[in-house]
Amino acid sequence: METIRGRTSLDLDLTDFYARLANYNRIILDLGTGDGKFAFCHAESFPGHFVIGVDSCRENLHEVSRAKLPNLLYIIASAQNLPHELSGLISHITINFPWGSLLQSLLAGDPQLLCGLDSILSPNASLDVRLNGGALAEAGWSLEDGVEQIRERLSYAGWQIGKPVMMDSRTLKNFPSTWAKRLAFGRDPRAIELRCTS
Ligand SMILES: C[S@@+](CC[C@H](N)C(=O)[O-])C[C@H]1O[C@@H](n2cnc3c(N)ncnc32)[C@H](O)[C@@H]1O
Repeated sequence: METIRGRTSLDLDLTDFYARLANYNRIILDLGTGDGKFAFCHAESFPGHFVIGVDSCRENLHEVSRAKLPNLLYIIASAQNLPHELSGLISHITINFPWGSLLQSLLAGDPQLLCGLDSILSPNASLDVRLNGGALAEAGWSLEDGVEQIRERLSYAGWQIGKPVMMDSRTLKNFPSTWAKRLAFGRDPRAIELRCTS
């Protein structure tokens, strides 16, 4: 599995990966992590959690992935083809403000994404999905309809989903991810959070 620190890629084998995880019983995965800031902030705030940021794009990760936290790892992978090394390990997944093929797969209920997520979960895992108006508009959906579509797809895949929670510009400003800050000061500072349990 390809990991990244700064501009350097490293192939991490199963033995080394398990050694890194050895002292942690809660493993968090931030899918579509972008520049990795949310994963970094979580790892810093919760030293007892091991945090994995995953994105298909290397370039944005060059800066934040240099951080030397023992409980933080960045993996280059597509959300639709997650590394098999993650199987059965993940306690909690976050998908913050997805766009592109990650958002399309959520909207379509793509089995390559949903079965892949299913395969990496540990028992009683949870999932938080935060969806923003601009990305859904680009994909041809209103915020409310897009969220409802994704809610239905996740529900069909077996997730129990709580009441959608609105995120306004103030909430976005205080949310620890780079994209949330951009949204907060942008043209459409609206997002909706779906909290799901397995
Ligand atoms: C709008 S950015 C949000 C980044 C970050 N979550 C944040 O809050 O700052 C969406 C991210 O999703 C990633 N992405 C889109 N499709 C993906 C896929 N199929 N697999 C993995 N990452 C994907 C993009 O590369 C991009 O970094």
